[in-house]
Amino acid sequence: MIFLLLSIAFAYKQLGYNPQAVKEDIISILANPSADDGNYGPFLIRLAWHCAGTYRRTDGRGGCDGARIRFDPERTWGDNAALIPGPHEDAQTLTALELLAPIKFKYGNVLSWGDLIVLAGSTAIEQMNGPQIDFCGGRVDVYEGYSIEELDVNMIYVNAGDTSAADVREKFVKMDMNDQETVALIGGGHAFGRCHASRSGFDGAWTSNPVQFDNQFFVFLNSLTYAESDTISGQFETTMAEKTYIMLHGDIVLLDDAGFKQWVETYAADEELLLKHFKAAWEKLMNRDMGLRPCAGTIPSLPETEVNFEAVKTQVRSILPDQQQDSGTWGPLMVRLGWHCAGTYRSTDHIGGCNGARIRHDPEASWGSNKDVDLALARLEPIKNAYPGLSWADLIIIASTTALESMGALPMPFCPGRTDVSAEVAAEQSKNLNEHIYLDPETATAPLLRESMKIMGFTDRDMVVLNGGGHSIGQCHHFRSGFSGPWTTNPAQVSNDFFNLLLSREWNRHEVPETGKMQFIDSETGSLMMLFSDMIFRDDDSFRAIVEEYAQDNDLFLQDFRDAWIKLVNADRFGGVCVTSEAEPESETTTPTLPANMMDSEPAPASVVVSCKNDQESSAMTWVLIIVLILIIFVLLAFQYLQTSKPVHTDFNKQVDPESVAIEMSKGTDEKPTENRF
Ligand code: HEM
Ligand code: HEM
Repeated sequence: MIFLLLSIAFAYKQLGYNPQAVKEDIISILANPSADDGNYGPFLIRLAWHCAGTYRRTDGRGGCDGARIRFDPERTWGDNAALIPGPHEDAQTLTALELLAPIKFKYGNVLSWGDLIVLAGSTAIEQMNGPQIDFCGGRVDVYEGYSIEELDVNMIYVNAGDTSAADVREKFVKMDMNDQETVALIGGGHAFGRCHASRSGFDGAWTSNPVQFDNQFFVFLNSLTYAESDTISGQFETTMAEKTYIMLHGDIVLLDDAGFKQWVETYAADEELLLKHFKAAWEKLMNRDMGLRPCAGTIPSLPETEVNFEAVKTQVRSILPDQQQDSGTWGPLMVRLGWHCAGTYRSTDHIGGCNGARIRHDPEASWGSNKDVDLALARLEPIKNAYPGLSWADLIIIASTTALESMGALPMPFCPGRTDVSAEVAAEQSKNLNEHIYLDPETATAPLLRESMKIMGFTDRDMVVLNGGGHSIGQCHHFRSGFSGPWTTNPAQVSNDFFNLLLSREWNRHEVPETGKMQFIDSETGSLMMLFSDMIFRDDDSFRAIVEEYAQDNDLFLQDFRDAWIKLVNADRFGGVCVTSEAEPESETTTPTLPANMMDSEPAPASVVVSCKNDQESSAMTWVLIIVLILIIFVLLAFQYLQTSKPVHTDFNKQVDPESVAIEMSKGTDEKPTENRF
């Protein structure tokens, strides 16, 4: 019981607020005579749906994480009428966000708008007889909306009054929803609430009790005849017992398509199944953009590992030299393996990354850009087999990092604890990743490069230093990528040579004879190469300014490369398991706290701190430990009290063996301190 209470307390400490208390506050504002049908629930469900329904699986943008619905362009979309306050709304209109504002301000910054909006929609569903929704918290608000190029209303929503089944499918597939989920969501959502002429131009409710979840939407759609309204185009109506019920064109078209219609019929006949499917689809809709992040408050699973990573590093160093390889080393291929494993990370929806080692399985394993990385994996296999507790994901990262260090990069800390996933899980987790996440080197442009960097969560500086550092070593192989040759004269040395050569040499277009692919070669020797994607860094003004800095300062380059690599390989370590901080370590929060099993041959420099546990967790742990200690002291005191209140029978005649006392005492001091992990 005590442990249950403690773990709940720990979870709240992590989340920062108690979701149950927030739910109660939400419940207290639902019933209100000013609301349609006396309940604000449907209004809040629409807010949550419009907040989360912007998610797109192609690039991971959209979704309620960030609560961007508060900003343009989203807040002024016609479809979001009455949801968000601003000059575009009539001041007299109480918007859905204003309705939630007192709760937001009651909890302050610990409760994000994103979490509150999702919790409000889900609580409203539960309160109106809908399914119990599992809540996953941890959304982080941002301060601006997406640009129009990034998110346009036509990419997202269906035109309610004039659409087709194909259009509905297209929009919901973008959101990662299949036919079954699409139908459950539309009909489950429109079990609630009504249309308002002032908001959408449509008017009326779909069902006879719009503040109660049931399958009536499907029963009506499946069995009644609707005719288009004479006055409201795109609105379909039917009258029963002198009451008019509506369907929008977006609802009616579900009957036009066999794939959708079968679910309309199924749900009309089976309310329980609808409840189950609606719950699952709603939870997916709300959480799609949370990606692989664990819900806040859940304890990150950091497996205990006995692996001696220092020994693994030594073994990696021993398998790198090989005269059969270019420049006599496997180093560059190991680095490419690490980059391709970690570089799939999408900061937009937190999928991808090396944790899981999905690069070993399809779809990633058969991407053209990953050709021959399996050779590096095969080279590592004996090390993998020698350490049963070692995951592939940890091995790939430690091998690529060690390879960089052995070729002249600054020493880097390693944060272990990655785990591997099965082929089946990998297929599911990587299904939304785009094979072309690595730009096509021939057709890359600065805007395309910036777009892919943004999705990965990189700055211009990160990308310049990573690309230039990565391509200071190794070479292109016509039998792998179709391109040919090294970038620098010393391809086994990490240095700023790439930048120097990029600026100082004259580069001419060149066709690779074996493949017909186009690249650049230097006019001076004809033996060095650049990809079109590399030339962007010279030809784009902002990138070039950074290139110039690195070309002039190898120390600065090495330092920044180190930082960017650490950021790259730890980007997917959620839950504070590994923290990369770029701040000066002036306070407790930025002091390097390298645990025993995190190696760093040199102390981490001030600019980047990586630790295996964040301070929030540590303080939460401390807090839990204090409570445990107080409880232990309390139990001991109670025990002592009971002892002293009993009559004491002391055997004064008993002989005490001084040796046994000494042994007993030494037992206590011999105990090793337990590691502060979970
Ligand atoms: C084809 C997709 C959809 C279309 C075209 C659509 C369209 C609309 C329109 C035009 C309204 C009326 C807004 C107003 O006048 O106040 C509305 C209301 C509503 N929609 Fe949808 N919707 C769709 C899908 C969904 C989904 C997936 C959900 C939730 C799972 C949902 C939940 C709601 C709710 C609860 C209301 C009532 C709001 C209130 O009473 O204030 N809708 N929808
Ligand atoms: C715009 C981004 C990038 C593009 C388009 C790109 C493209 C390529 C291509 C086409 C190759 C040749 C593969 C072969 O034929 O063997 C290559 C090799 C390589 N790349 Fe990149 N790359 C990019 C970024 C990076 C980054 C960020 C790193 C590491 C930090 C990196 C590290 C390497 C290494 C080490 C090799 C040499 C592999 C070997 O010698 O076997 N690349 N890259």
